[in-house]
Order: sequence, then C-alpha cells, then structure tokens
Amino acid sequence: MNSTLSSITNSMERSVSPASDSDVPFKVSDTLAPPRVNKIAGTTTINFDGLLNDPLLLKEDLKNGCGGQLWPAGMVLSRYLLSQHTSDMSGKTIVELGAGGGLVGLGVARGCQFASPIHITDQLPMFDLMQDNISLNQLGTKVKASILDWGEPLPAHIPNNPDIILAADCVYFEPAFPLLLDTLKDLIGPETVCYFCYKRRRRADLRFIKLAKKNFDMQEIRDDPNATSYNRENIFLYTLRRKTPKSNNK
Ligand SMILES: C[S@@+](CC[C@H](N)C(=O)[O-])C[C@H]1O[C@@H](n2cnc3c(N)ncnc32)[C@H](O)[C@@H]1O
Repeated sequence: MNSTLSSITNSMERSVSPASDSDVPFKVSDTLAPPRVNKIAGTTTINFDGLLNDPLLLKEDLKNGCGGQLWPAGMVLSRYLLSQHTSDMSGKTIVELGAGGGLVGLGVARGCQFASPIHITDQLPMFDLMQDNISLNQLGTKVKASILDWGEPLPAHIPNNPDIILAADCVYFEPAFPLLLDTLKDLIGPETVCYFCYKRRRRADLRFIKLAKKNFDMQEIRDDPNATSYNRENIFLYTLRRKTPKSNNK
C-alpha cells in the first residue's frame, strides 16, 4: 500500500463526511504527488508518474472548501487522459466541472494536444485557487477559470454542448446530486463525451450512478490498464453520452 495517495485519500475523507470502515486507502505510485502528513496549505508538484515532462505545480488550500486539495478520482482521471488521450482532443471544446484547484484540466492542458481554451469551472470559493494555479503554471492562454454552479443556468461563455466534459470526484454530497445531474443534462449534447471518474464512499453514491445510468448512456472505460488497481479502491471511470434510441434499450 502506497502512503502517498492513501494519505491524500484519508485526509480527503476527513474533509467531507466520514467514509465507511470498509474504504481502503488508494494505492498509486509515489510519483503522483509528494507525501504530506497534514493538510496545511502548500504547493504540490505532480508529474503523474512521469506522464508529464514538465510537472504541474498545484497550490492546495482548504480554507475555501474541500476542492482545495487533490482528490483520488482526479488523479485517476488525469492519469487516464494523459496516457490514452494525448492527441485526440485537438480541435475539441473542453469543460471541466467541479474542478477544485484545477488538477484535471491543468493536467490535460499541460500534457494533451488541444486547440481552444479549456474551461475549468467550480463555485465562487474555488475561483481564486483556480486562477492561482493557472498562473502558477503559466497556462493563462490555454485555460480559463469560470464560476459554474451546478443546477444554475450555464454562463454564456461556456460552450453549450462541449465536445468533452471532465468530471472527477464530483459525487460526494447527496444534496448536490440532482444539481450535478441537471448540469450534465444541460451540457451533454449529441456529440459530447463526458469522462466521469468517481470514488464510491457510501451507499448514496450508488443512487447517483443509478440516476446517471437512467439519464445517460454510461459505459465503464475498458482501455485503462490501471483500472484493476483503482477499482479495488472503489474508484470507477466512465464515459457518459446522450442516450440514443439504441442506447435507451440498455
Ligand atoms: C471533491 S472536489 C473534486 C475536485 C477536483 N475535481 C479533483 O478531483 O481534485 C469536488 C468539487 O466539486 C465542487 N462542487 C461541489 N458542489 C458544487 C456545485 N453545486 N456546483 C459547482 N461545483 C460544485 C466543489 O467546490 C469541489 O471543488
């Protein structure tokens, strides 16, 4: 069991409501993030196991909310995209939901080919942290931070039906489930692919997945060689697409 991400996972679970006793710390290589003992504000250097030549610097600060630190599904989604999708996002519009400090969107911006700016979005309390991390990595021409509250009308400058939506560790607070679902319904167009990574911590999380399966064509991603390892830690990676008459029958 690796101490690095298990300390991330454990401290994350302390920062939201407690996980069940059966939750097992997450095992990932040491190079994902340096070990930390506690959650004081600071800057973390991440290269995602060598997937980034030029590592990301991520300021973490929990003073404005739980998005101010790295979450395990964000690490998994970043690693997946940086290993399997480095070149097929060029020319695509990309929006990240619940970006926190911007882990996934900034990772993609650093390591994948793309054309238009990536929109990383979260609630107002996370805005400064997103901005700080964009500046810290000199990605201001490639990444734009925006406030996007789930369940609210989409800001006018956010692409309506983006080609790609990124959502990592957005399933953790039951009252927000219908809001997240509404925003996904608003954003997912006929050509949109949403990469959706979540960690199942409690039974309620499955209710979200059930609802998502009802509303979208939801498929578990099968081309990630690391899946067996993170599935053991109750982390799952899916694509969500708009249902078609064919997928409706599934
Ligand atoms: C657990 S964090 C995940 C952060 C990041 N995606 C990661 O993987 O490291 C969940 C994020 O969802 C955001 N969030 C929660 N409720 C939200 C809402 N109603 N509208 C927009 N964002 C929300 C939080 O502010 C937080 O940054």
